[in-house]
Amino acid sequence: MTSEKIRKKFLDFFKEKEHKIIASGSLIPDDPTSLFTSAGMQQFILYLKGEKDPIQDFGSRHLASCQKCFRTADIEKVGDETHLTFFEMLGNWSVGEDSKIGYFKEGAIKLALEFFCHNLKLDKNRFWITIFKGEKGIPRDEESFLIWQENGIPEERIREFGIEDNFWGPVVETGPCGPCSEIHYDRGERFGCNREDCGPNCPNCQRFVELWNLVFMEYERVKKEDGSYNYEKLPQKNVDTGVGFERLVAVLQDKNSAYETDLFLPLIQLIEKNSFKKYPENKKSFRILVDHLRASVFLISEDILPSNLDRGYVLRRLLRRIQRISKILELKDGWEVEPIKWIIKKYQKVYPELRGKENDVSIVIEKEREKFEKTLAEGLKHFEKLIEKKTEKIIKGEEAFFLFESYGFPLEIIEELAREKGFEVDKSGFKESFKEHQKISRAGVEKKFGGVGIEQIEKEEDKIKAIRLHTATHLLHQALRKVLGSPKTMVQQMGSDINPERLRFDFSFEKKMTSEEIKKVENLVNQKIKGDLEVKKEEMSLKQALEIGALAFFKEKYPEKVFVYSIGDFSKEICNGPHVQRTSELGEFKIKKEESSGAGIRRIKAILK
Ligand code: ALA
Repeated sequence: MTSEKIRKKFLDFFKEKEHKIIASGSLIPDDPTSLFTSAGMQQFILYLKGEKDPIQDFGSRHLASCQKCFRTADIEKVGDETHLTFFEMLGNWSVGEDSKIGYFKEGAIKLALEFFCHNLKLDKNRFWITIFKGEKGIPRDEESFLIWQENGIPEERIREFGIEDNFWGPVVETGPCGPCSEIHYDRGERFGCNREDCGPNCPNCQRFVELWNLVFMEYERVKKEDGSYNYEKLPQKNVDTGVGFERLVAVLQDKNSAYETDLFLPLIQLIEKNSFKKYPENKKSFRILVDHLRASVFLISEDILPSNLDRGYVLRRLLRRIQRISKILELKDGWEVEPIKWIIKKYQKVYPELRGKENDVSIVIEKEREKFEKTLAEGLKHFEKLIEKKTEKIIKGEEAFFLFESYGFPLEIIEELAREKGFEVDKSGFKESFKEHQKISRAGVEKKFGGVGIEQIEKEEDKIKAIRLHTATHLLHQALRKVLGSPKTMVQQMGSDINPERLRFDFSFEKKMTSEEIKKVENLVNQKIKGDLEVKKEEMSLKQALEIGALAFFKEKYPEKVFVYSIGDFSKEICNGPHVQRTSELGEFKIKKEESSGAGIRRIKAILK
């Protein structure tokens, strides 16, 4: 069965069971404390907490989705049989259990068994179940233990585990969570070990794969004043489930890993064509390459660009590792063009945001390659010298950080290089140096880009001038995106500063603008001013704002409800204002200066005459 068919079967099944199918949420979660979406439930947190009504928003309390997810924790482990960075998660939810209309443990277990055994024809005799054994004041899940047995799973194939394995969530420090019960699939003796107690969660072997996690979400972890945590009952009971899609596909296609399924193998074969190196012999390299490439396509399609901070840094790590590996596999520059097309074609039906992004992704990858190319060879030389002098087989934290900071070597690359020479890296030392560096650069970012500050201007006349420049800034931003266009994602606001005399706008762009480009931008802004467009302010959820394509700057800082200012149908931005009411109030727009403001960042100063 193809992966497409499996995904569809899941969603069709739940549709038939009167679930509302919800599109995948963004990889960038609304919650400012988490970097990436890593579980299907994230877009439903407020519903699970009882703060929002699913009937009102979705017309149903039964939901299902296929969610794109990204986990950073295992980047170094990618290449083995099981770890991935980007993955998909199938899930179903029952929000707010009610004996008449909702379902809880029994309903969730029966649905899971029906889908697996009846629709996918998986052999029930190979299922092993785990339940929560009770810990930290939360009782043992006796109920599930009995329900599984009533539904044909013998007691010998039910194991119990504690908080570590059978209690799920919250995704961040606090939030909804609960005991869980999992279906593990026995892949057979040839994957097993000799331990007497070999079974689900065996530390020795991978005979048992976890396929479906059913979370009975009736708790919330809250932080107490003294900093410790408490588990409190949520106002309602929910079911939250998750199936690792790639694992399910591997089991159904009878493969040892997702890399051998239709999700990856054709992609590996496509790349193999351009290399003298072959897959099975260079398994790890090929796997890292395709995992990281697929993840990068998804990240870039959400307008994430490589940088040294947060999400941008994660993307940079992926891209640089891709580059190093492409050298190991002796791939020629440009090798990625066809694979990117393949990935987008494979996924664009399910994730329409990928459509038409082939060029954007290629350009971002190419630019990052150019950047890293300059320092890669020198960095390698530095590395060789460094280890030559060493008596102990360890790379210190600050030495690794120097490689990162001066040559742009991400930790994974440093570790790989070290491993090849039999060295180890002091990872925690590196992380400390890194944190220190992030603190400094974030403080810098906030100082540079912090609020417009128009409200603080005292003289009324000056305030009006600044408000006009603020609206002009929005026009400029959109005009830059239009003129410097392809890919749109390359032009992103990096900072803005307004005083009554001029606006200053920093944005990501690789090269100096030509005088024609400057002229074009100026003309476009003036054309929109002359068009006397209406400036409209609307309040909506951050999610909605992003869905309608409003430009956002430093997404993580926005509250859940935001204002969107739109100027005619030319520009839409999340912003707190203030702005003029019509563009004709602005006068004539003139760019005074275009200059560099750091690597890959341009700065424009402009006035209104
Ligand atoms: N939220 C649960 C998980 O991610 C289903 O495993």
